[in-house]
Amino acid sequence: MLRRKLISELLPDEDGPSLKRALSLTQLTALGVGCIIGAGIFVLTGSTAAQFAGPGIILSFLLSALGCACCALCYAEFAALVPVAGSAYTYAYASLGEIFAWIIGWDLILEYSFGAAAVAKGWSANLVIVFQKLGFNPDQRVVSFCAVLLMTAILVAGIRQSAGVNGIIVAIKTATVLLFIVVAGAYLLRHPAQAVTNWQPFLPFGWGGVVRGAAVICFAYLGFDAVSTAAQEARNPQRDMPRAIIGSLAICTVLYVFTAALLTGLVPYTELNVSAPIAMGIERTGAAWASFAVPLGTVLGLSTVTLVMLLGQSRVVYAMSRDGLLPSFLGKIHPSLHTPYLATSILGLFVATLSAAVPVTDLVLLANIGTLLAFCIVCGGIIVLRRRDPQLTRPFRTPWVPLVPVVGILVAVSMMASLPAATWLRLLLWQILGLLVYFTYGRRASTKS
Ligand code: ALA
Repeated sequence: MLRRKLISELLPDEDGPSLKRALSLTQLTALGVGCIIGAGIFVLTGSTAAQFAGPGIILSFLLSALGCACCALCYAEFAALVPVAGSAYTYAYASLGEIFAWIIGWDLILEYSFGAAAVAKGWSANLVIVFQKLGFNPDQRVVSFCAVLLMTAILVAGIRQSAGVNGIIVAIKTATVLLFIVVAGAYLLRHPAQAVTNWQPFLPFGWGGVVRGAAVICFAYLGFDAVSTAAQEARNPQRDMPRAIIGSLAICTVLYVFTAALLTGLVPYTELNVSAPIAMGIERTGAAWASFAVPLGTVLGLSTVTLVMLLGQSRVVYAMSRDGLLPSFLGKIHPSLHTPYLATSILGLFVATLSAAVPVTDLVLLANIGTLLAFCIVCGGIIVLRRRDPQLTRPFRTPWVPLVPVVGILVAVSMMASLPAATWLRLLLWQILGLLVYFTYGRRASTKS
């Protein structure tokens, strides 16, 4: 029998220390952009173009955006319907039952932990370069370990402080991407022949390369879903969650498509397999000041992605613990800071260790497959809940159900299918470990039992 939560059961108990409703629409959208723009565009664009898609990476970005947009519309319906911490985990509890909720919650821990660790790694690699220019040579693993711990400390300090730090950095990194677009665009307008040459052949790896490219580059879009994990801290979740989720995804899609087109126009795709492709592209324009500003903005920009991913992860664990599926100490809220400080600290240590010890590609691919699985379950959940509880008041309705969720599932599955067998195996092992925990602990301790 499937154990399900009713929507009313999922709404938060406001007695006792609780999460603070502090976030406005602008802050929520910034949270999304803060988590979305990151290692995907600043680091992976180059290697993905060089290895999988060539200039066709522009299409990879569009294909990936299509899948993410369908999923974002489904996330938006859920986030407005069930505005509590926990995101897809909570939605699965309401629509598909406890076992699916567990699978997705466990999967989201994978997504956010590995994603946060991957970004911390890209961030520290860039930071080490900056340090080296200043005459120091720190160990990159130590830098990424400390970077994650610093972000963890900011999160423990409070959601308002986290949003404040995030707001400043989001502005810097959006400006960095815009700077690249303006400088590179102006350069290519003066040298159109260079772009025309570099865009040929446009699909050196065929359409298969475009899909494989989309499966890797979807990492660049991850993060719009993290907005939904903060629903319980939004001032007006019903109105603002859908707007923030879809708005942040739309802003980033436009920025990415322009960036990818300009980068592959500036640099032949065969030369792009580097760890700082955007910085490389801007150097080709010869604009010295921009060549300094872009890498600096990259270093600053990547920090917030780790921050929001750590935030999302701790809120999912908080929700799972509140429901009894994980031990109750993980859901403890600090009486004055109003943050789930124990979950945040323990997970922060886990992510710091991952970022120091695991290669970046393994981290990215695992984060991707975990997220795509979550997307499928959220899209499926919308179809199920519409059939089963059509009478629920939905402040936001996903348009064209079941078409939109079905397209979301199809795009996500096609991207998952093009990921390597080793990534699938790791996902399977992670889920088996999760089910062991569920059947030995969560199932019996669940507040539903
Ligand atoms: N979207 C995030 C990034 O690109 C995960 O780093």
